[in-house]
Amino acid sequence: MPTILVVDDNEAIRRTRCILLKRAGYDVEEAASGTDAIRLLNQSVYDLVITDLKLGDIDGFTVLKEAKLAQLSTTEVIVITAYGTVEDGIEAMKQGAFHYIPKNTGNEEILIHIEKALEAKQLQDSVQKYRAKLGGSLNIDHLIGRTPAIREVADLIQRIAGSDSTVLILGETGTGKSLIARIIHNMSSRRDKPLVEINCAAIPDTLQESELFGYVKGAFTGADRTKKGLIEEGHQSTVFLDEIGEMSPENQTKLLHFLENGQIRRVGDTKPISVEARIIAATNRDLDIARRQKSFREDLYYRLNVITINLSPLRARMEDVPLLATTFLRQHADRMRKDVQRFTDDALKMLCRYDWPGNVRELENVVERAVLLSTGREIAARDIQAYVTHKPETYSRQQVTPRIVRSRKHIHPPEKVLARISHLSLEELEREFILYKLKQCEGNQVVTAEQLGIGRTTLWRKLKQYGVLGSEQSQAT
Ligand SMILES: Nc1ncnc2c1ncn2[C@@H]1O[C@H](COP(=O)(O)OP(=O)(O)OP(=O)(O)O)[C@@H](O)[C@H]1O
Ligand SMILES: [Mg+2]
Repeated sequence: MPTILVVDDNEAIRRTRCILLKRAGYDVEEAASGTDAIRLLNQSVYDLVITDLKLGDIDGFTVLKEAKLAQLSTTEVIVITAYGTVEDGIEAMKQGAFHYIPKNTGNEEILIHIEKALEAKQLQDSVQKYRAKLGGSLNIDHLIGRTPAIREVADLIQRIAGSDSTVLILGETGTGKSLIARIIHNMSSRRDKPLVEINCAAIPDTLQESELFGYVKGAFTGADRTKKGLIEEGHQSTVFLDEIGEMSPENQTKLLHFLENGQIRRVGDTKPISVEARIIAATNRDLDIARRQKSFREDLYYRLNVITINLSPLRARMEDVPLLATTFLRQHADRMRKDVQRFTDDALKMLCRYDWPGNVRELENVVERAVLLSTGREIAARDIQAYVTHKPETYSRQQVTPRIVRSRKHIHPPEKVLARISHLSLEELEREFILYKLKQCEGNQVVTAEQLGIGRTTLWRKLKQYGVLGSEQSQAT
């Protein structure tokens, strides 16, 4: 059922209009002022907004602008104009309103306009869905957020998507790096060819070269035929090298060679092959540190760093949380065919108080779960409470990187990581891991124990056993 927001500072008119719309079968919410409207527009998603142009506080043009920014790209706005002022209505349409209705318009006619606007919205929605099915539809509208941080990223994407330049995307896990790589590809002239996505962390070192660059028959035992590498698969398309920080030094060299000369060499081959592919790379590691520690080639770093998109963590752009949450609510409710409409105010407040170590991915997961489990039309604070409360408040956010533990993706360490540590005994592994955690928590034993899920005394005993604790420290725990 379509949801309509009615904005009017005149109570009598607003009420009458709401009753009219409710009788016609719509879900209706009302705002008595521009400020109220803007607050609601940032909390829920509407199919249609009807606003008077003359409001007590903020004028209707601002509400229109805000609706266009904060709502889905298909949300329509109808403005109500004063008697005989066609100019305002035309101006509003120029600014994206679907239509304007003079104040003295009769009920029946109003309903017809509304129906038309909703039909237009539905049509646009299905066009979007259809294009999404075809796969080529991802565009800048899929990057949700209206904070300056996200708007700047969106501007940058729009400016560079059409070019062939290499792009480096940096950001914590779940901040949208993969999404952006796909958006860039789909906005470029290369969109007709599939994007080749390669997760460097998922390919063991020993296989990386042959996977990336291909091999010829007989190159090594088991190479019983010639095979194209993934970069070659991306010829005339885009190659997305995810977690590039995990690429082995030899492959970094080969990649640099490719970026400079447009040529690759299959394993076991003598002649180079020309490949024309655009490279987008991403990582959640600090490449600058890796470069200084010499685990990442300096020249490759500079070669990749032509255009860099820095994604800030969600906790640094919390104003985006309500819009993101409400959009995910809609999407998942739609997909599951459930009549879940919105979050209660308290639920939204709760979402805005959490610091989202897993960023947008974590937020989306929380919303998806809440929609799945919900039985009513609203999601209340108690429905999400369990997922968004932090236990240890004793440490600051920067000191620990809980994403390693929390992110769905990192629960199972990639094969490659396991291969690297497979020479350790279980005992050694435990020691390494505990010390690693302790370092991550900046030596705070209380937090370390909590994160490891062991008692403080146990931690203390183990540290003592490792010879990490001096006798003067042993009482401090
Ligand atoms: N600004 C955004 N608007 C809409 N959806 C977003 C946004 N940012 C992230 N998402 C969604 O959140 C989820 C996680 O994003 P994505 O997979 O792109 O993160 P990532 O940075 O690649 O994470 P990782 O480092 O773990 O690979 C995806 O479902 C993505 O569509
Ligand atoms: Mg990713």
